[in-house]
Amino acid sequence: MRRLGLILAVCLALALLSACGEVEEVKGPDPARGRRLYLATCIVCHNTNPSKPGSQGPPIKGSSLELLEAKVLRKTYPPDYKPQRTTNAMPTYPQLRKRIPDIAAYLAQP
Ligand code: HEC
Repeated sequence: MRRLGLILAVCLALALLSACGEVEEVKGPDPARGRRLYLATCIVCHNTNPSKPGSQGPPIKGSSLELLEAKVLRKTYPPDYKPQRTTNAMPTYPQLRKRIPDIAAYLAQP
């Protein structure tokens, strides 16, 4: 009977460990990575401080994931969103497709 308890305890420990491993793998949006991408790609036109206007682009601090995906991937805006500018000068960055949540997390930081 004692041995059964021990086996159960070991199983439980293993189950917990593997669950933790999964959490590690499925990592959520990473604002630090978003910041690196922002500084590498966006500040040609937007400001290094995203709450200020840049050389060409408007301030984009706090931009929603929906807005970023529409603008960065499709050159569009979410329905009912009122764009800050009427120009259409910004190119798309399809290579950032999987990284938009990181950029949104960075831009959401206080
Ligand atoms: C070549 C210059 C340029 C680069 C690089 C650039 N943008 Fe822009 N961005 C603009 C301009 C100009 C606008 C104003 C609308 C337009 O003309 O397309 C804009 C508008 C936006 C808007 C819409 C703001 C609003 O509320 O109306 C978002 C969001 C945005 N940019 C995000 C980004 C992100 C994120 C990156 C980096 C991945 C980036 N931009 C890189 C020039 C640029």
